[in-house]
Amino acid sequence: MEKTKYIWLNGKFVKWQQAKIHVLSHALHYGSAVFEGIRLYNTIKGPAIFRLNEHIERLFNSAKVFSMRIPFSKKDIKNAIIKLVKINKINQGYIRPIVFYGYGKMGLNPEGAELNIAIAVWPWGKYLKEKVKVIVSDFIRLHPQSVISTAKVSGYYVNSIFATMEAKKKKYDEAILLDFRGYVAEGPGENIFIVKKNTLYTPKPGSILLGITRDSVIKIAKDLGIKTFEKDISVKELLNADEAFFTGTAAEITPIFKIDKKLINKGKIGPITQKIKETFEKIVRAELKNYYKWLTFVK
Ligand SMILES: Cc1ncc(COP(=O)(O)O)c(C=O)c1O
Repeated sequence: MEKTKYIWLNGKFVKWQQAKIHVLSHALHYGSAVFEGIRLYNTIKGPAIFRLNEHIERLFNSAKVFSMRIPFSKKDIKNAIIKLVKINKINQGYIRPIVFYGYGKMGLNPEGAELNIAIAVWPWGKYLKEKVKVIVSDFIRLHPQSVISTAKVSGYYVNSIFATMEAKKKKYDEAILLDFRGYVAEGPGENIFIVKKNTLYTPKPGSILLGITRDSVIKIAKDLGIKTFEKDISVKELLNADEAFFTGTAAEITPIFKIDKKLINKGKIGPITQKIKETFEKIVRAELKNYYKWLTFVK
């Protein structure tokens, strides 16, 4: 991965190579960390962070599931991110804040372990290909009674890693995970939408992370006059979709052209996907004034 000069660690800017933690950190052993992935875009008005407020809200909400008491305000963290972007002189990339239980306690109760917070930023281009072929994974998404699905917890990502590795092993680009009932849930790090008869459908909350890009797409679609419904989507409906695409901070809007052996829209990017993708791209280049509220310009 491409490096930058500084990482913010517990309130201080430290050199990238010096941002280190102990091998007996609680989060390393048990996954007791919460994090965010945020994109920094190079817009026509300079670098801008996409939906910073919503990401910081979700970070603090995720921290609540572990009763983590973050010793900084949301405003402090937003300011630290903006300053980090500036001192690293970066104009596009990915921002990764992480709150984690560190050294000082072994065993499953993290109480007594030190609480750390770090923020890194680095240049990052496309996460997935222009359009992807996907498998319906043999792994299912975590049961909503096993975890708190709306929190972005590091430990949950073992499930995502397994599904991703399965897809790669089968020479596909990405996976789709079903929920415990057999309905479509999401990708390993993406939400999913399907198009049927010019209408969008996306899985209901329950077994999914409530993605900020998912929310953005629902709002963009509304503005474009396209209806969206949250509903249970069966595998049959998925395979018979007119179009399908992933959404996510890393994946942005990624069209799906093949699911298992079935081509979607004859393997071509469909018109609704294209329209949403183009609008999203205009928004993140700051070409649409109506959506400036989603951009935090770094001046
Ligand atoms: C499991 C999972 N689902 C969905 C998403 C998409 O969420 P967002 O659009 O907020 O990045 C992500 C990425 O954060 C994710 O890890």
